[in-house]
Amino acid sequence: MSTQSTHVGAELFHYIRQHTLQEDDFLRDLKTAAREAGLPEIWIAPEQGALMHILLRLIAAKVVVEIGTLAGYSAIWLARALPDDGRLSTIEVSGSRADFAEAWIAKSDVAAKIKVFRGQGLEILPRFRNESADAAFIDADKVNYPAYLAECQRIIRRGGLILVDNGFAYGQLLDDSVRDANVVAMRAFNELLARQRALFSIIVPLGDGCWVGVKA
Ligand code: DHB
Ligand code: MG
Repeated sequence: MSTQSTHVGAELFHYIRQHTLQEDDFLRDLKTAAREAGLPEIWIAPEQGALMHILLRLIAAKVVVEIGTLAGYSAIWLARALPDDGRLSTIEVSGSRADFAEAWIAKSDVAAKIKVFRGQGLEILPRFRNESADAAFIDADKVNYPAYLAECQRIIRRGGLILVDNGFAYGQLLDDSVRDANVVAMRAFNELLARQRALFSIIVPLGDGCWVGVKA
């Protein structure tokens, strides 16, 4: 066998999923309620939640920033990796999504660790001090990803993590016939991130492609 990566097709992927920490009933109920409330069915995969949770534990993260709360699903996965005095600040531009997320976060086991900030990421992020956070998760409007990245690079400490969702652009990354603005934005963003010398990064092929970058 070569030293190259083993191809992960549907069967191996199923195996990975079967052998990875599952979401709990609370997170399953949150998704059902989000569907019933008419929210878009957009959330990270459980295995991506598990990956990010483990990464935060590995760096002993205490302070984390998330851009794009939506229903609060990923916020809860991330906050569960933090110590009792840890804090996740999550930013949501949509009032109705922030309302839903706040209600579910309040009922969760990590209510005390999460604060929802309402507004545009680029208006809220400047409030966070330089090198004041251990990690950031970018999962919001794709055209602003480069600006979010710049802000997160400022906010994260050395050795901290920048995690970014949708590196595979909803699975449409390599389909040249797709010219959708968000897909085009992700193609450009991936090139930008891959070139960053101040960040050692890799796309982990879980969920829709999870960028993991460590600040040099
Ligand atoms: C969409 C956005 C996301 O962040 C995601 O993970 C999946 C879909 C969307 O806007 O459709
Ligand atoms: Mg996403």
